[in-house]
Amino acid sequence: MLMRMTLASGCLLALTGTGNANELSAKEQLGFSLFFDKNLSLNGNQACADCHLPAAGWTGHNSDINAHGAAYEGSVIKRFSNRKPPSAAYAAASPVLHFDKKEAIFIGGNFWDGRATGEKLGNPAADQALGPFLNPLEQALPDNSCVIHRVCNAEYPVSLDSIWTDACDIAWPDNMQSACAGETSAQALAVTDRDKVDQAYAYVGLAIAAFEASTTVNPYTSKYDYYLAGRVKLSEEETRGMELFKGKAKCAACHPMEPGVNSEPPLFTDFSFDNLGVPRNPENPWYTMPKHFNPQGRQWVDKGLGEFLAQRDEYRQYAEENLGKQKVPTVRNVDKRPYETFVKAYMHNGYFKTLKGLVNFYNTRDTKPVCKNPLTTEADALQQQCWPPAELTTNVNQEELGDLQLSDAEENAIVVFMQTLSDGYQPPNGVALLRNTQHKSIGVTDDVNQAKHPLTH
Ligand code: HEC
Ligand code: HEC
Repeated sequence: MLMRMTLASGCLLALTGTGNANELSAKEQLGFSLFFDKNLSLNGNQACADCHLPAAGWTGHNSDINAHGAAYEGSVIKRFSNRKPPSAAYAAASPVLHFDKKEAIFIGGNFWDGRATGEKLGNPAADQALGPFLNPLEQALPDNSCVIHRVCNAEYPVSLDSIWTDACDIAWPDNMQSACAGETSAQALAVTDRDKVDQAYAYVGLAIAAFEASTTVNPYTSKYDYYLAGRVKLSEEETRGMELFKGKAKCAACHPMEPGVNSEPPLFTDFSFDNLGVPRNPENPWYTMPKHFNPQGRQWVDKGLGEFLAQRDEYRQYAEENLGKQKVPTVRNVDKRPYETFVKAYMHNGYFKTLKGLVNFYNTRDTKPVCKNPLTTEADALQQQCWPPAELTTNVNQEELGDLQLSDAEENAIVVFMQTLSDGYQPPNGVALLRNTQHKSIGVTDDVNQAKHPLTH
């Protein structure tokens, strides 16, 4: 199997089976080009879409990686990051990270730990989009001027300076190309127009966020959406799964499934954070990364939101009670895959490879014995009828999961229900879905200086 699928942007329509690129606004179209451009990486070999492939539900494109370590290699070979890519779809609706005083919990942001807060550009997805290009473990460019130099010289259908007129009006030094070819050459870049580069880089984030908030990325065309619109019926088993998801299995407590007050389609996440007690992924490649990236080696533990809060003066007091908590991801498209035997990985570290195993964990985490070997894989744990200990044992949610008393048939029904959440559903007789585009531009603002809190539904 190829390490990386070819991602010609022309494939997108076939991959998503939705929408029409012509429906994109100019800014969304630019974001689309940026999202699929491999040239925006150190070795010209990695685009956002490599780790967020539409046909895989906007997550990692490689079945073999998903089946094992689940964290992806960056543009520089043998450099892996530490987490599984979450879906880039339905993430743009996340509000700016904030402490909800009423509930006394944190809500919002992007990334598993919420650290792309949205405070910079008014929108977590825009803040997030500034990270990967410069992350040495991802697209690995040495400086944001390298990104802008490449973007300004690219032949996209919609250029950056056609939207923001003076964005590329930058005096480039002659050595841009060679200076951007190495990872450590950032200091060699004598970009005099530093402010202009920073401004243009913010525009790149906003364009990507606009694309990520578009109907191409968030089409709401699953069977469940057709069902909510009264266009199709669910099967008996799907209906049973839906009722369990809402009731006995408590899934909807964190993955809300009801339409909003103005019948906005549900996002299947409340953007809050929880520690579910997910075991370590024994194959996480991060454990064997060189010491200068991961000084703790195999002892490394993912502390999630708590670790980020500890770095912020105003939030430090909440760090302890949020150790090990990860952001609730959407459950939309969890079963979307390019072909039937394509393996997907679930949770922040990709421990789970099957939805059945995952539901069984929610059901029996606290009733099965603890596996003798803490590094037991999902397949072995299911066979041995045990679960390994939590990656991080503090703050594990004991109230809403762990002993759900579900039968085997009930677990299966929940899986079957989640399979109705894949976009691109083809209804019988082609009954058209009236699209609700309420979420379309939530939180995306053109004004980079205006850090306004985007609306949630
Ligand atoms: C090498 C793989 C890789 C590449 C390349 C990559 N991502 Fe990601 N992406 C990840 C991982 C891993 C995470 C989670 C990281 C974390 O939580 O610390 C993530 C998180 C995200 C999220 C957050 C979703 C949420 O629910 O919080 C978005 C959105 C996203 N990426 C978009 C992008 C964009 C846009 C690009 C290109 C600029 C990109 N990614 C490039 C792996 C990748
Ligand atoms: C208390 C809140 C809560 C409840 C209840 C809950 N979840 Fe989750 N769910 C989460 C969190 C948090 C994560 C991510 C945890 C992690 O990565 O460590 C998650 C992750 C998932 C994922 C993985 C998605 C991905 O992209 O990796 C699936 C699938 C899922 N939940 C389905 C369910 C089902 C089915 C139920 C009911 C049986 C359920 N959840 C109940 C909070 C919850």
